[in-house]
Amino acid sequence: MTTQPQQAITLEGLTRRFAVRERDGTDRRAVRGELTAVDAITLRIPRGELFGLLGPNGAGKTTTIRMLCTLLPPTGGSASVWDFDVVRQPAQVRRHIGVLLTGERSVYWRLTGRENLAYFAALYEMSQATVLSRIAGLLDLVDLTARADDLVERYSTGMRQRLALIKTLLHDPPVLLLDEPTTGLDPQASRIIRDLIRHLHRDEGKTILLTTHSMEEADQLCERVGIMDQGRIVALDSPQALKRAHQGEMILRMEVDGRADHATAVLRTIPGVASLTLQPLPPDSAWEITMTVTDITGVLPQAMQAVNAQGVHVRHLQLVETSLEDVFIALTGRRLRD
Ligand SMILES: Nc1ncnc2c1ncn2[C@@H]1O[C@H](COP(=O)(O)OP(=O)(O)OP(=O)(O)O)[C@@H](O)[C@H]1O
Ligand SMILES: [Mg+2]
Repeated sequence: MTTQPQQAITLEGLTRRFAVRERDGTDRRAVRGELTAVDAITLRIPRGELFGLLGPNGAGKTTTIRMLCTLLPPTGGSASVWDFDVVRQPAQVRRHIGVLLTGERSVYWRLTGRENLAYFAALYEMSQATVLSRIAGLLDLVDLTARADDLVERYSTGMRQRLALIKTLLHDPPVLLLDEPTTGLDPQASRIIRDLIRHLHRDEGKTILLTTHSMEEADQLCERVGIMDQGRIVALDSPQALKRAHQGEMILRMEVDGRADHATAVLRTIPGVASLTLQPLPPDSAWEITMTVTDITGVLPQAMQAVNAQGVHVRHLQLVETSLEDVFIALTGRRLRD
């Protein structure tokens, strides 16, 4: 057994740019520019931490995970896992990580659960006896023993995700990289996956980097959260500290009919309105105005006056304390889910 590093995952100015191509008039592929999906991220995740990257679509979460698991080369900076460099020592990196990617069929539907695990276990150097006992233990862990010899195509979505999760554990890696492990699952299946992640962290000492859209998930599960937006980490702390930093602020939500755009132009000028977003509320032509306010007693009367003066009708008014999502809105002016 090698010595265990202090930092399980290290990112030093990690960067990934993509060429953005569009068809030009001559119908040839032309390079039009570059998109920076991951923008010089520096981050240290100590051994044993459960860390969450929280961010909206396109923030760069999956790109970060793909670089860490050696699927995609960085275009700048560096990253290491378990002290192995993702570019120079990819085989060692892969030996120390279990990876769950989204949007991939990570298990074969025409095989049984047990056959899938045996197939993937053959990729690692383990004795047959170790493989068999490992597979039995993992199936037990996720309550799939009774269904282990059924074809995966007969599994529910939640069962498939449990299988995909234990597939990442076959070689008992110290680090898990989980890209949106609960996306697409119903609440109950999500809860089972979250409990498993908690167990792997608490009882098995795994270092876990997961990505999520869900602020509740980040809040409930993670010791530290990096809020990611447009390739950068815009805030990094424990969920408690992130929320505390924005205390004293409240969220004022207004559901309105009418020219909400006119009203928001005025609302933005009110002192004490820290940020403001405007969202359409389909199917009718209503709007939701969400404001982060630092002085609610001062802002509220002025806000009502401003919208009335614009002939905008307020259907519903709600005042809420800050959540992690609100922290995100305050930092970026946008919502996690658009
Ligand atoms: N292979 C690629 N070629 C070009 N652009 C890419 C490629 N992969 C990702 N991108 C772009 O990089 C940005 C970040 O994408 P990424 O998939 O990392 O975001 P994400 O945070 O995982 O989003 P989501 O929540 O939707 O999964 C996006 O603008 C995306 O379109
Ligand atoms: Mg993604």
